[in-house]
Amino acid sequence: MTSVQNHIDQNIDIFKKQLFEFLRIPSISTDPDRNADVLKAASFLKNQLDAIGMDDVQLYETKGHPIVYAEKCPHKDRRPTVLIYGHYDVQPPDPIELWETSPFEPTVRNGRVYARGASDDKGQSFTHIKSIESFLKTGTELPVNVKYLLEGEEEIGSPNLIPFIQEHKAMLECDMVLISDTAMFGEDQPSITYGLRGLAYMEVEVKGPNRDLHSGVYGGAVENPANVMATIIAKLKNEDGVIQIDGFYDDVKPLTKADREAYERLPFDEESYKKELDIKKVHGEAGYSTLERASARPTLDVNGLWSGYQGKGAKTVLPAKAGAKISMRLVPDQHPGTIAEKFATHVKKIAPDTVTVEVTSHHGGHPVVVDFDFYGIKAAARAFGNIYEKEVLFSREGGSIPIVADFKKVLGVNSILMGFGLTKDALHSPNESFSLRDFHRGIKTSAEFLRILPDYA
Ligand code: BES
Ligand code: ZN
Repeated sequence: MTSVQNHIDQNIDIFKKQLFEFLRIPSISTDPDRNADVLKAASFLKNQLDAIGMDDVQLYETKGHPIVYAEKCPHKDRRPTVLIYGHYDVQPPDPIELWETSPFEPTVRNGRVYARGASDDKGQSFTHIKSIESFLKTGTELPVNVKYLLEGEEEIGSPNLIPFIQEHKAMLECDMVLISDTAMFGEDQPSITYGLRGLAYMEVEVKGPNRDLHSGVYGGAVENPANVMATIIAKLKNEDGVIQIDGFYDDVKPLTKADREAYERLPFDEESYKKELDIKKVHGEAGYSTLERASARPTLDVNGLWSGYQGKGAKTVLPAKAGAKISMRLVPDQHPGTIAEKFATHVKKIAPDTVTVEVTSHHGGHPVVVDFDFYGIKAAARAFGNIYEKEVLFSREGGSIPIVADFKKVLGVNSILMGFGLTKDALHSPNESFSLRDFHRGIKTSAEFLRILPDYA
């Protein structure tokens, strides 16, 4: 074993304690009341990067949350430069009453740490800091150049990182981006993600009468915005799960025979999938498998819905308004802006003229598919294989990391999606967790990747 790997094994308990410190910071990017905590998480990272001996450690202010940057480039133009990207912001922990232990008090049960951000993305992104630290602390020269970029706005669509990478192209120049913010195919089954879906996130408001009404006095004579909202939503998909928005599929690249065969080869167990979620049946677009539906086909889902009386007991009311948050996951070559427009036009077209309908667009992101012939991906697969002692699979995933498309477009580089998470980590759900064994193996895989990468360049 190399002295770097040895150092990781010797220090893993300290690394875990530091991760727990990071997890205690409630860096919820979408909640303005948490701005100070988001900044605290950025400062925590800056201190970490300073302490391990990175160069040029900076906290860049943005219009929103800060961006943390650091680098160590001992080989300048002679060896590959890896830009490691991660995010230190987290999703809100709600509904908080469903957490078995407090979301910001990391708790270990059965070898897993439970906390918001444990897997997405604090635990995963921290692996790379600890791997670089293990080179620097053992006096082992870093085999490649490393740049580190961490943002605090991934969970709200990276609005400030996109202009930042345009403005700092020279600083961020690299040969590839390395990201650990996805899941492995299964437990002890490493995989490299080669596709992510994009996103168009919309909000719809239906307005009826100028006040909430007595449902007996007015019901039947005045249009009910809640009923209208239900009808609109019901019309957005047909019984085969096909989205009915005009032109929605225009730019969807159909799956090729080779794509579908690759999906079929993956060892997916539908029974355990259903069991893990306690569902009776899977559901989705006719003619596609569960894996295809969850990663290669576009979707439309209600993410939030409100109207009328929500309290205990019964109140007879005809609500004045109804609202819904609706997200669409996108696949190549769909464009989030175009889809948002098509959605708005369609919803307005199918709404009755008895109400007013407003449609607004929240954040979005472009879908990506990475060419896995790239040498960085080959090195990543070998590194994973060396540490997990298992052959690596290649799969596409349904989630989104908006900046990945911009790394390609603006910096001209491929991203290597080397996730250490699992679907059972419960990202964005109550009781999010991360396997501490995968945290440990993740650090080792990161170090192994950096060690062998020059041989592939
Ligand atoms: N880490 C996730 C994305 C992810 C999860 C990719 C699992 C693949 C597998 C990321 O932090 C995330 O949740 N992104 C948001 C982006 C959105 C808010 C623009 C998402 O996908 O909802
Ligand atoms: Zn994430």
